[in-house]
Amino acid sequence: MTVLLAVETSCDDTSAAVLTGDGRVLSSVVASQDAVHAPYGGVVPELASRQHLANLPRTVDSALREAGVSERDLTAVAVTCGPGLQGSLLVGVSYAKAMAWALGIPLYGVNHVEAHLRSAWMEAPDLPYPSLGLVVSGGHSHIFLCRSPHEVTLVAATRDDAAGEALDKLGKRLGLPYPAGPFMDRLATRGNPKAVVFTLPRMSSGSLDYSFSGLKTAALHYMNLRSLEIPAGADPEHLPPWAYDLIASYQKRVVDHLMQVLKKTALALRPRSITIAGGVACNSHLRARLQALGKELGVRTAFPRPAYCTDNAAMVGFQALPLPQAAPPPGEVDAFPTAIWTRMSLEVNSPCRAR
Ligand code: KG4
Ligand code: ZN
Repeated sequence: MTVLLAVETSCDDTSAAVLTGDGRVLSSVVASQDAVHAPYGGVVPELASRQHLANLPRTVDSALREAGVSERDLTAVAVTCGPGLQGSLLVGVSYAKAMAWALGIPLYGVNHVEAHLRSAWMEAPDLPYPSLGLVVSGGHSHIFLCRSPHEVTLVAATRDDAAGEALDKLGKRLGLPYPAGPFMDRLATRGNPKAVVFTLPRMSSGSLDYSFSGLKTAALHYMNLRSLEIPAGADPEHLPPWAYDLIASYQKRVVDHLMQVLKKTALALRPRSITIAGGVACNSHLRARLQALGKELGVRTAFPRPAYCTDNAAMVGFQALPLPQAAPPPGEVDAFPTAIWTRMSLEVNSPCRAR
């Protein structure tokens, strides 16, 4: 029987999980570094790799204990190789390599973004391919056409900030704790999403790219023009009404833009399913909008449960399954900070079908 240990350290979450060969998650443990990076309002790479070094051994121990297995029961190891922060990735890859070598078991390298894409199948294993997947996190706003778990083509990407980054940056200015995304999600329900009018980013005709930096600048400009400030240390639960209106209007526009390009792409490619994944896929407004799009287009939609949206090792193990017969020698698995995907050149005015 396959007993797979998965390790994830691509950014600022140290995570380990144990899975069986049929995709059952026996344990999934995440040691968050949010408190370490919060004072800086963003991830500090050097601190992140040091924290991984300190946290990874006990995170793996907890995952093994929760799964009720010992190191000797493991039959394979999977690890995120990239993309991500080089120092963070190196901690996980070196640890996983040493473990696989010491135990004499195979090691499988996993692409972090492709693991996010696959995470929707953890909830809906029979979701049909070809599938259109939006990975939306602090580092990515990318749409992929997936013909199978390992045949992934990039269709759209952001030209500047990622959606999560755009949410986090306005949140920082409003004094919200880091990462601000979950706070924005909850506090948006207290404001009027129509109170502040932000124009949707306009890309050149036919372009399917995302761009969030204009929206972010417009929101900061809105505050500057009106001399609106939140005093340091303000309680997020007791902000002035204009702040909740701004959060609601801004979040709505971020989601409008995400859905605008996703819908255009879906109409052009006619996939059999549409998914969202990554930290921002926790967002309740985005989840509702995806379901509405699925109904409108008559296409199945899916997203992971919140614990599998943010960075986690369970999705990394899941993406490694089914394990190929021939595993590369552990020495050949290496960290890579950036990923390059084949990019589909797609003009929205010239529809083609994915089926
Ligand atoms: O996938 P993830 O854990 O890490 C990266 O690979 O970036 O995503 C983190 C991002 C952060 O920007 C965070 O603010 C955002 O996901 N996020 C959310 C929500 N929960 C997390 N954004 C909006 N609504 C949420 N509920
Ligand atoms: Zn991620």
